[in-house]
Amino acid sequence: MTSQQSHRKDEHVSLAEKFHQPVADSSFNQVRILHQSLPELGLSDVDTSTIFEGHKLAYPILIEAMTGGSEQTGRLNAQIARLAAATHLPMAVGSQSVALKQPELAPTFSVVRQYNPDGLVIANVGAGHSVADAQAVVEMVAADALQIHINAAQEIIMPEGDREFYWLDQLAAIVAKLDLPVIVKEVGFGMTAKTVQKLMGIGVNNVDLSGRGGTSFAKIENFRRPEKEMAYLDNWGLTTTESLLEMRKLSTRPWIFASGGIKTPLDAIKALALGADAAGMAGEVLHHLITTDYATTEDWLRHWLQGFKQLMLLTGSQTVKDLRKQSMVFSPELESFARQRFIS
Ligand code: FNR
Repeated sequence: MTSQQSHRKDEHVSLAEKFHQPVADSSFNQVRILHQSLPELGLSDVDTSTIFEGHKLAYPILIEAMTGGSEQTGRLNAQIARLAAATHLPMAVGSQSVALKQPELAPTFSVVRQYNPDGLVIANVGAGHSVADAQAVVEMVAADALQIHINAAQEIIMPEGDREFYWLDQLAAIVAKLDLPVIVKEVGFGMTAKTVQKLMGIGVNNVDLSGRGGTSFAKIENFRRPEKEMAYLDNWGLTTTESLLEMRKLSTRPWIFASGGIKTPLDAIKALALGADAAGMAGEVLHHLITTDYATTEDWLRHWLQGFKQLMLLTGSQTVKDLRKQSMVFSPELESFARQRFIS
């Protein structure tokens, strides 16, 4: 298991932790939800559930794609699967393309079904793969849905990365042929309305905006480069809040997962208030698993979810959809972004 690709998976984990940012750096600090003193609600009346593609979710929260492909990351996948099963959250595995090339690595992904046999598990592969590859990664983890990541910026910064990005035709073929929901996701660079329009044009119904503000693959890949000459891309991309504002330009919207910099329940509440259907969290879960232990992480996540429910109460939101009715104020920078992008 010591292939170059397995080594890269381990490096991604350790570098994601190295660059883990304090809460204060997230783009969600550019949004305030205004306090209302009269919620007229009780905690027992708050319904945190939502429905994604016919699956009832206890919370609109996803544990995002991160790991698998090496011994260490296989162990992390097992822990993530235990977390997801214990909290009834949906989860995604990291990119499985390494296991398509080296089938002996498949157990580092399929291990999630050992610990989370009944939960909603999402497979993950990069754009550019064939329909057969998509089917193979779905089967590998008996997935309920497939995430396809679009990571042009990451590949460009990686010296060994791809340089050809003709993705739409393959994506369209997978969406047409796979009989499971497909989610097209970024990896921390965000999406414009134009990108999402193109995706909807080929039949994509679910996107994961994954914006800047959390784990930065620009910083991670720049660190891995022998010469760091692409450090000028460290702040490339749209933040998650900017990506969410972009979606206001669309007359019809796909199902929107918002990830990138979600660390606290308040960040997730703000993402949903800005129009996301669900929020995804990667780096923060990893941070807790790496710096504490499994039991402490499960405890943290349970408290996190309780906090989410309490914030629904505080914002007068009986249902997840009610979260969209918030009064919000943006920072001058975010407000300027909205104005320059003609977003009302
Ligand atoms: C990731 N992410 C990711 N995404 C993906 O689609 N396939 C992948 O294989 C990986 N691998 C990966 C490894 C590690 C260690 C991290 C931390 C993240 C990206 C992830 O799903 C998410 O889009 C971004 O990390 C932004 O969310 P956070 O980390 O800011 O919550």
